[in-house]
Amino acid sequence: MSGSGSVVEPPPPGSSPLDVDEIRAEFPALDQQVHGRDLVYLDNAATAHKPNRVIDAVREHDRATNANVHRGVHALSQRATDAFEEARDTTRAFLGAEDPEEIIWTRGTTEAINLVADAWARRELGPDDEIVLTELEHHSNIVPWQRVREETGARLRVVPIDDDGAVEMDALEDAVGPDTALVTLAHVSNALGTVNDVHAATEIAHDADALALVDGAQAVPHMDVDVQDIGCDFYAFSGHKVYGPTGIGALYGRRELLEEMQPYQAGGEMIRQVTFEETTYACLPAKFEAGTPNITGAVGLGHALDFVTDHGRDSIRAHEDRVLSAATERLAAIDEVEILGTAEDKASVLSFVIEDVHPHDVGTVLDREGVAIRAGHHCTQPVMDKFGVAATCRASFAMYNTVEETEALADAVREAIEIFH
Ligand code: ALA
Repeated sequence: MSGSGSVVEPPPPGSSPLDVDEIRAEFPALDQQVHGRDLVYLDNAATAHKPNRVIDAVREHDRATNANVHRGVHALSQRATDAFEEARDTTRAFLGAEDPEEIIWTRGTTEAINLVADAWARRELGPDDEIVLTELEHHSNIVPWQRVREETGARLRVVPIDDDGAVEMDALEDAVGPDTALVTLAHVSNALGTVNDVHAATEIAHDADALALVDGAQAVPHMDVDVQDIGCDFYAFSGHKVYGPTGIGALYGRRELLEEMQPYQAGGEMIRQVTFEETTYACLPAKFEAGTPNITGAVGLGHALDFVTDHGRDSIRAHEDRVLSAATERLAAIDEVEILGTAEDKASVLSFVIEDVHPHDVGTVLDREGVAIRAGHHCTQPVMDKFGVAATCRASFAMYNTVEETEALADAVREAIEIFH
C-alpha cells in the first residue's frame, strides 16, 4: 500500500488548511483506546463527537443559567431566554436565512420533516397531488410521505439514481409536472455520500409551482449551506451530526409558508389566547414549539455551529475531501473491496462491501482494531435494493479525521479479508 504522500492533493486555492492536531485536542472522546487500540472514529454520519466548547457550554448552562424560557420575569429565565434565542439567531446565520423566526427548533431532521408532512402536506394535499422524492432518501424522508399518501391519497413519484449513486436529474425534471406539490431530496446521501444538486432541484420544483424541501442532515457538517441561495422552502438538519447535542435540530421554513401552516403539536407556548370555546395561536416561531423545548440542546447547538464557522466551512470541506480521496484510493486498491457510490460530487461518506463477507462481520473485526464504522442498511433500504446488497460497511469522516486514519481503515479491512477469506 502506498504511503499517505501519494494520495494527498494540495488544498484548493483560497482555503486555509485546518490544524487537525489542534482540532483533535478539542474533542476528548477521540483520545481513548478501544480493545487496546487507539480509537479511529469513522462513524460521523451516525453521530459526531462534541468539542469541549459544546460540552462546557451545556454544562455551564445547566449549572448556572437553567430556567424555563419565555415564561419568567426573573433573572435566570431572562438569561436562559437570551441564550436560547441567541442560538436560534446563530442557526439562522449558519443557514443563511433572513429571519430567526424562520428557524423552528425540533428534535432533529426526522422531526423537522414530520413537521412539514403533518402541518403542511397532510392538510393541503389530496389525490390530485404528487410528491417527488429520490431513490437515495433516508427512511426519514420516505416514510412520512408514505403516511401522507395513506391519509390524503397523494401520490409518490420516485426519481431513480444511476449506477454511481447520483440522482438522474433528467428523470427528476421529467417527474415534476403540474400535479407536483413537493420535491424533496437529501442534500448529501447518508449511505453513498452523493452531493445532490439541490439548487437545480429547487428550481425544477419552483418552475412547476411546487415546494422544495431539502434534508440537510449530512450536508451541514461538511459544506457551506445558504438556504436563500438554494432557494428552497424548507431545510432540515440535526445538531448531533454537526458536533452539537442529540435531541436538537432545526427546520428552516420560508416565513410566508410557516405563517400559513397550521401548528404541528398543541400545548403551552404555541398559543395566543385559550378559552374552552376557542384557541388562537402564537406567532412564529412559537406556533411550532409547543411545550418546554430542549433549551440546553439549543444552547449547545449554537456553540457547535460557532465552532464550525470559526474553523471555516470551506477549509473543513477541503480537508474532508482529502481524507475521503485518500480512503477511497486505499480501499479501491484492495481487490476484494467494492465501493458503492462513485458519483463525481461526494462528501464525507465511503460505503463499501467485501466479497463474500457480511458487513456486520467486517464491522466487528474493524472494531477489534479500534476502527469504528457503521455496518447495515443505514436506514436506506431502497439504496441497498438498488445495489443488490442487504447492507454495506460505511466509513464517514469529520473535520477531525486524518489521512493517517485512512491507513488504519485499510489495514483493518485487509485484516478482515485475511480472517474471512
Ligand atoms: N442517519 C444516521 C446514519 O446515517 C443515523 O447513520
